[in-house]
Amino acid sequence: MTTQTKITVIGLGYVGLPLAVEFAKKFLVVGFDINQKRIDELNQGIDRTLEVNNELLQSILVTDKNAESGLLVSSELSDIEDSDFYIVTVPTPTDALNKPIFTPLVKASETVGKVLKKDAVVIYESTVYPGVTEDICVPILEEVSGLKFNEDFFAGYSPERINPGDKVHTVTQILKVTSGSTPEIAIKVDNLYKTIITAGTHMAPSIKVAEAAKVIENSQRDINIAFVNELSKIFRLLDIDTKAVLEAAGTKWNFIKMSPGLVGGHCIGVDPYYLAQKAIESGYNPEIILAGRKMNDSMGGYVAQETVKMMIKKGARIKGAKVLVLGITFKENCPDIRNSRVIDIVKEFESYDVDVEVYDPWASAEEVKHEYDLDLICTDTKLASKYEAIVLAVSHDKFLDLDIQSLKSETGVIFDVKSLLPKDSVDGRL
Ligand SMILES: NC(=O)c1ccc[n+]([C@@H]2O[C@H](COP(=O)([O-])OP(=O)(O)OC[C@H]3O[C@@H](n4cnc5c(N)ncnc54)[C@H](O)[C@@H]3O)[C@@H](O)[C@H]2O)c1
Repeated sequence: MTTQTKITVIGLGYVGLPLAVEFAKKFLVVGFDINQKRIDELNQGIDRTLEVNNELLQSILVTDKNAESGLLVSSELSDIEDSDFYIVTVPTPTDALNKPIFTPLVKASETVGKVLKKDAVVIYESTVYPGVTEDICVPILEEVSGLKFNEDFFAGYSPERINPGDKVHTVTQILKVTSGSTPEIAIKVDNLYKTIITAGTHMAPSIKVAEAAKVIENSQRDINIAFVNELSKIFRLLDIDTKAVLEAAGTKWNFIKMSPGLVGGHCIGVDPYYLAQKAIESGYNPEIILAGRKMNDSMGGYVAQETVKMMIKKGARIKGAKVLVLGITFKENCPDIRNSRVIDIVKEFESYDVDVEVYDPWASAEEVKHEYDLDLICTDTKLASKYEAIVLAVSHDKFLDLDIQSLKSETGVIFDVKSLLPKDSVDGRL
């Protein structure tokens, strides 16, 4: 690596932008994205994902293509010519049938293929199943560029492990798995990341191992959460507090600590389907992985049903009842609403003709309207005074400042999905 090394990051989202900013402290980085609105905002020094501090972003932006370091943000193909490394961080979602959607990866590979120069290395960071880099992306790079893989250009895979909203485990603070398409390229890729990752790197023996490692990290988490979600369903029937049980069991040195809840977002609720797809294609039916997914996807509906049961027991009406759901983001203290399973709670309530309102001080009302067709309440002054049920779905710290009890009607119930509030102040929790 020299100071002349030029890096292009394709896809400036939750993963791509923080990575581009870190590399830009040492090298000239072009951050490329097809979303012009995102490019315009970034060029004004605004990161709406809140992953990069706006002051840092503003200080690192450059417009000079010949600068020694800094971040040039662009949607122009001509700006990404001549790069030594292309790092692809585009989304890997699933469709309505939970099948992987490769379109962003295919399109990004076509883009890179158009400008790929000899000896460049294309590193994928998007979460995929083993084989996607070499079997799907590399052939596109070869076809579009006309260059030969592992002779004229090379590939790598280095999964991202960041956790949106987490200000401790930031990109440089998380050990990074690296890999390359030849032993020499693996070292080259590893050395590149070593320039910014203070937590160190782990060089995997192949791209497929690195791809598989990432997808099982999230699948393991999904399955472990599914287990505690199942426990929650059992213990609610037995009238035993799941949190207390988990606290007691958690005193054993090798008990894995997990909490029940909704599993949404762009990663844990999606990635296991990638592994499942590859397993099925290879002739194996992944029962545990899919059972975990099924359990976790059932939790939103379950929360609403349990709340309705509690309302009925208190003699409250159901049809036309005013219910408040607190939180729409997929996790606490961050604005990310992608694949939020809170929508399952809302839809289940609506199926009972309940009048649902959703309040979230973190989420953007515009995005929520676009994504879920919901009119989000963004400020607590807009809340009605009395609700017949309140479901605390996301444990934003800001909800601790809300006087939730005063929002509840006399016969109202509170269901605390994340056990944020003291147990004796709520009527039910997972
Ligand atoms: N969000 C996370 O916490 C996280 C953590 C680890 C891994 N990942 C994985 O990283 C990948 C990216 O996730 P993300 O959360 O950053 O997604 P994101 O949606 O926040 O960002 C992706 C960006 O890529 C852009 N994009 C899409 N297609 C493009 C194309 N053809 N060319 C250029 N830009 C394009 C989009 O406009 C968007 O700005 C996914 O595979 C995800 O599973 C995400």
